[in-house]
Amino acid sequence: MTITIDDNIILELIDQKHCQEIFELVSLNRNYLNEWLPWVDNMQAVELIQNFIVGSTQRNKTGFEYAFVIIDNNKIVGRIGIYKIDQQNKIGEIGYWIAETIQGRGIISKSCKGLIDYCFTQLQLNRIEIKCGADNTRSQKIPERSGFKYEATIRQGEWVKNRFIDLKLYSLLREEWILYLLLFVMLRLVNQGNPFLYNLKP
Ligand SMILES: CC(C)(COP(=O)(O)OP(=O)(O)OC[C@H]1O[C@@H](n2cnc3c(N)ncnc32)[C@H](O)[C@@H]1OP(=O)(O)O)[C@@H](O)C(=O)NCCC(=O)NCCS
Repeated sequence: MTITIDDNIILELIDQKHCQEIFELVSLNRNYLNEWLPWVDNMQAVELIQNFIVGSTQRNKTGFEYAFVIIDNNKIVGRIGIYKIDQQNKIGEIGYWIAETIQGRGIISKSCKGLIDYCFTQLQLNRIEIKCGADNTRSQKIPERSGFKYEATIRQGEWVKNRFIDLKLYSLLREEWILYLLLFVMLRLVNQGNPFLYNLKP
């Protein structure tokens, strides 16, 4: 299964065929990724990625998660997914990472928007959460750019690099996403009619 983001970027549901490429990408980016992602230091062998994919495929079958690789021009550049889906309450949590050298191109922001659309339209979720390290300002910009609201700080919510870190919890509700889309369409219409407003962006 794939989600098309733009002419170059697609999200593809994770599969064993991605295993080696993901392992090489994680290995190449280990010292940068392990700053914020607790699982990175443990992923020291390709078999561990294989095991993760077996588990993820299982969780996908039961509707518990949708884990994707981000493919840019036929190369895997990172990962994004919706995890810990609570079917009863229609809640899920988005997580993401991208290779260090690929940062700053908007690929995660765009992929996040595509995944959010998928979660609300196809998975019928009502609430999406993103948790970012309280000092991970780069990651916090993703929910802030995507219309999420900051809700709270989860104190010592994660054990990373031999310390507990606080996490900022952001959420987006289905009703807010609909308003956000309407605002986007209205601004497009206004901008088309009024060249002086052409710089406005939602
Ligand atoms: C957090 C992380 C995913 C952010 O990656 P990123 O490349 O900064 O995020 P984006 O892909 O949205 O790119 C945003 C940048 O692209 C620019 N950009 C270009 N085109 C853009 C577009 N169409 N839309 C949005 N931003 C765009 C933005 O201005 C921004 O630039 P800046 O870095 O100068 O502020 C990345 O730093 C990472 O993987 N870190 C390590 C792992 C991690 O922290 N994961 C999150 C755990 S909660």
